[in-house]
Amino acid sequence: MSKLRIPDVRKQFPLLKEYIYFDNSATSLTPKVVIDSMNDYYLGYCANVERGAYRLAQRATQEYDLAREKIAKYLVNCQPQELIFTRNFTEGANMVAFALQNPLLDRIDEGFGYASPLIDNGKNANIVATAIEHHSNLMPWIRLSKALGVEFRTVSPTEEGLLTPEAFNSKVDKNTIFVAFQHVSNSIGTLHPAKQIIDTIKQINSKALIFVDGAQTVGHMPVDFNYLGCDFYAFSGHKGPLGPKGTGGLVVRKGLLERFHPFHLGGGTILDVTLEDYKLKNDHRQFDGGTPYIPGLIGLGTAAEFLEEKIGINRIREHELSLSERLLRGLQAIDNIEIYGPKGLEQRSGIVSFNIKGWLSHDVSLTLDEKWNILTRAGHHCCIPTMRFLNILDDYGGNVRISLHLYNTEEEIDTALTALRKLAG
Ligand code: ALA
Repeated sequence: MSKLRIPDVRKQFPLLKEYIYFDNSATSLTPKVVIDSMNDYYLGYCANVERGAYRLAQRATQEYDLAREKIAKYLVNCQPQELIFTRNFTEGANMVAFALQNPLLDRIDEGFGYASPLIDNGKNANIVATAIEHHSNLMPWIRLSKALGVEFRTVSPTEEGLLTPEAFNSKVDKNTIFVAFQHVSNSIGTLHPAKQIIDTIKQINSKALIFVDGAQTVGHMPVDFNYLGCDFYAFSGHKGPLGPKGTGGLVVRKGLLERFHPFHLGGGTILDVTLEDYKLKNDHRQFDGGTPYIPGLIGLGTAAEFLEEKIGINRIREHELSLSERLLRGLQAIDNIEIYGPKGLEQRSGIVSFNIKGWLSHDVSLTLDEKWNILTRAGHHCCIPTMRFLNILDDYGGNVRISLHLYNTEEEIDTALTALRKLAG
């Protein structure tokens, strides 16, 4: 299939005629092709999935299953059976925390027996996260540690905000039961060496379960769950993948999934129910409790196919890095601007954050909008501990963030730099 050029891609997003949209880490714009596929469902084959015998319901189920296949293949390289649909990253993280806290409630195979626990929270057990996670990849693990009565430890990044395998070396030990860390920082844009970190953790303790936050990677760069070798990889559908709001995914390694306790019990999840007990489906469908967000997930499947087949996810990575480089070079040349994150481009993503000395970050963001229609996010980015680590919470209220996607252009970067020069001058 022939690939689209950036100017052609922009036609998919009418808002770009009016705005410079630089808030892709919070949510991205949705291409017309995705909205069309949702409308096709609503207008052409609107029926529930995995329930009805009639042909319209069969068509809806086929499209829904196909969406799972596309999302698994194009976005994260996992088996469709390893992919649980969620509403967003946060739901994925909380699902894992729930399953770890409630490991023994029911069983799915033959009979209504009991599963063996996913983790052994014996004496000296500990859970490890990092000091620069966003709240959704921190709070569930703090609560889990308290609920299990185990120690909670945090890994510190380098001064530039990079997580290194060595830093995990000093926190993970034989008693670690679970480790959570981000692949890319949403507030400073660092791309961490996830594979090396995972290998290091496994060398120290092969039993520790590893959860990776892919909220800022999936759709922005190729992600390979099989290659990474972690146990869980969670992402949102409406950020990097350009899918509808209220969609996301959680990949759970096969073997673990069978012992994973679903958050929502109910219609669609079961093989059998008696008045005393129930038997769950022995696959990802046990996580589809209730009617799922059918049009949204079909739309996410369309988005995944669009990104890989029409654009190429590796090209998105290259495009974002080249814009980041231009932006960083321009920012470095402006006096009074403080930039956060690593100096090396290979440790960066399409997220660049900074402050103008003497300005509150929110004031910079509001002025960029009011005077130039440039939309950025400012503040703590749901990462209060990271802002404290950078020591910028009190003086700036956080930082200003430009987060890029495939539809952003060099001209937009130059407009932003001209505007920032005026504000900082
Ligand atoms: N969605 C949050 C962000 O803007 C965490 O990065």
